[in-house]
Amino acid sequence: MADIGSTSGRDPAFWALIPAAGIGRRMGSDRPKQYLTLGSRTILSHTLSIFLEHPRIRGVVLVLGPDIDPDALDLPLAGGRLFRAAGGAERVDSVQNGLEFLAERAHSDDWVLVHDAARPCLPLEDVDRLLRELRDDPVGGLLASPSSDTIKWSDGAGHVERTLDRERVWRALTPQMFRLGMLREANACARDAGHPVTDEASAIEFLGQAPRLIEGSAMNIKITRAEDLELARLYLMQQGRLEGRFSA
Ligand code: C5P
Repeated sequence: MADIGSTSGRDPAFWALIPAAGIGRRMGSDRPKQYLTLGSRTILSHTLSIFLEHPRIRGVVLVLGPDIDPDALDLPLAGGRLFRAAGGAERVDSVQNGLEFLAERAHSDDWVLVHDAARPCLPLEDVDRLLRELRDDPVGGLLASPSSDTIKWSDGAGHVERTLDRERVWRALTPQMFRLGMLREANACARDAGHPVTDEASAIEFLGQAPRLIEGSAMNIKITRAEDLELARLYLMQQGRLEGRFSA
């Protein structure tokens, strides 16, 4: 993996940060889900390619668990743009480690796109839309998908407490794109306060800011359970990113 050069006197750069240090308990497989294969490549390799092949992304910080040897992974050719940081106990800790790594090398105004390793079906057009829509935004935002289901808020004991207004319910996807400095501060503050941080936007919200919702494709699923693998395979085939023919 490569060294990052200095960054000064230029437009904010775009970086990708891929937390990939989870163990994926819900998948029930013999290894973390990001190391399962779709076609001939791992899920992680598919995900990394999206960013490593994107001309606007300056570099990609990959956050890996402690026992992982990056040389043993089938990572796509990085052209000196792939860097490694160490994972933490929770997703928020892994992201924070990646942000600390970047903070020593990038500018605090630079943009960071945090994207789950387990979302290999992110369409390229969605990355482009995110960059285009948010590059002049004071805060940043996230890809999200309007809910097609009616969402129930439970009382915590198996009963419905209330029904949310479906017109206003969105599912948070990734990438989530924020300025390095703001996100680093938000994540640290929210975490220190014991506020649950399951995505970057929730940390930014904790600072009192309102991230923008940018509509993204529902194809951008997070592989979580065994049945998601087949769906991901289908979506990758539809996008022409998996060998084999797609038949409807
Ligand atoms: O567990 P979940 O599906 O929410 O994980 C989302 C992403 O965060 C995955 O890519 C996973 O590898 C990563 N993660 C991490 N460090 C952790 C837990 C999850 O990098 N401690």
